[in-house]
Amino acid sequence: MKKIKTVVVFGTRPEAIKMAPVVMELKKRKEIETYVLVTAQHRQMLDSVLDLFNIKPDYDLNLMKENQDLWHLTSDILLSTKKVYDEINPDIVLVHGDTTTASISALSAFYSKIKIGHVEAGLRTFDKNYPFPEEINRVIVDSVSDLYFCPTKGSIDNLINSGIKNKNSIFETGNTVIDALLYTIKNNLSDISYLGLNPNLKTVLLTSHRRENFGKPLENICKAAVEIVKRYKDVEIVYPVHPNPNVKNTAEKFLKGIERIKLIEPLDYAPFCALMKKSTLILSDSGGVQEEAPSLGVPVLVLRDETERPEALYSGCTKLVGSDKEKILKEAGILLEDKEEYQKMAKNINPYGDGHASAKIADIIIKHFA
Ligand code: UD1
Ligand code: UDP
Repeated sequence: MKKIKTVVVFGTRPEAIKMAPVVMELKKRKEIETYVLVTAQHRQMLDSVLDLFNIKPDYDLNLMKENQDLWHLTSDILLSTKKVYDEINPDIVLVHGDTTTASISALSAFYSKIKIGHVEAGLRTFDKNYPFPEEINRVIVDSVSDLYFCPTKGSIDNLINSGIKNKNSIFETGNTVIDALLYTIKNNLSDISYLGLNPNLKTVLLTSHRRENFGKPLENICKAAVEIVKRYKDVEIVYPVHPNPNVKNTAEKFLKGIERIKLIEPLDYAPFCALMKKSTLILSDSGGVQEEAPSLGVPVLVLRDETERPEALYSGCTKLVGSDKEKILKEAGILLEDKEEYQKMAKNINPYGDGHASAKIADIIIKHFA
C-alpha cells in the first residue's frame, strides 16, 4: 500500500505545542508516512517543546535570527521549504494557524502544487491590522488550503462567509491545543516550587508579546502591573518574558526590581501549564492562553482590543481589556475584590475541544486520500 506522505511544518512555540499531538497521532497511523519540518522561526522556545513531546525533526531549517524582520524571514522560509518539498515530494503539507512559518510554507507548497491542510483554520478578526501580521497570514493559508481543520463552529462560519465554496473540505475537529494541554497535565505533572512563589499570595500570571502591543501599549500594561501590586498587597505577579527584544527591553525597563513582580525566562510548556492552573487570574495577549485557561477554570483579561477567539468571550471566561492602564486596573480590581464576579468568570469549560482533535485530523486525511 502506498503511504500518504505528509509533511508537518511548524516553527514557533505555539505552533509546536499545537502540532505536537498531530505529529504523535499521524505517527501511529500505518497509512501515513510523516515528516516533521521545522523552520525554527523560534529556536530555544521551539526546542523546549520538541524535547517535551520527544519529537525529532526530519528537517530543521534553523532560520531564527536575533530580532528578525518579516521580510528576511519570509524569503528564507519560501526558498528553503521549496528545497525540502522537492526532496520529499509529499502528498500533503500541514501547517498551523497564523505565523509567518504557516503562511509562507503554505504558499511555498501551493507554488509546488502540493495539497495543503490548515490546522486551526478559519479564525478571523476581519481587521487586517489586528493582530498584525497574523490576520493576513491566516487569510493567506486559508486561501491556498485544500483541507480545513476548524476548531469551532464559528471558525467554519468564518470560512464560509469568506467565500470558501467547497463545504466538503471543511471539518470541525476542535483545537489541538486541548489535546496538548490534557496530554501535558496527565503525563508531565510539573513541580514549580523552584519558582519560589509565595504560598500566602495570590498569583497573577502576565504574558504579552504581540507586535501591536510593542511600545506604548506594552508600557501601559507594565504600568498597570506596577499599580496592581501597589494596590493589592496580597498579589504577586509572575511574568515569563518573551525573548523578543521589543518585549524584553520594555519589561525589564519598567518592571525589574519591583517588589512582588517576578520577571522570569519563558517557561517550558509543562511548568507553564502548572503555573496557569495555580494562578488566580491571567493577564495575557496570547492566543493559546485564551484557549487553555477556560479548561483550567482561570479567568483571563485579554490585553487586546479584538480577538479571533470569541468563544471564550461569549462563555464569559475571558474579557477584552486592551492595553489601557485604567481599564486593566478596573477589571483586575473587580476580579481581585469581588468573589461573586470572580466566580462568574472562573468557569471550567471547554469551548475549544475535547482533546481528540488530532485523531479526527488523522482520520480525515486518511479518508481524503482513500
Ligand atoms: C511569532 C509569531 C506570532 C506568535 C508568536 C508566538 C509571526 C510573524 N509571529 O512572534 O504570530 O504569536 O511567535 O510566540 O510569525 N526569540 C528568541 N528565541 C526564541 C524565540 C524568539 O530569541 O526561541 C527572539 C528572537 O530575537 C526573534 C524574536 O524573538 O528574532 C522574534 O521572533 P518572531 O518569531 O519573529 O516573532 P514573535 O514575536 O515571536
Ligand atoms: N507558553 C509556554 N511558556 C510560556 C508562555 C506560554 O509554554 O512561558 C505556552 C502557552 O501555554 C500557549 C503557548 O505557549 O500554549 C502560546 O504561545 P504564545 O503566547 O507565544 O503565542 P500565541 O498563542 O499568542 O500565538
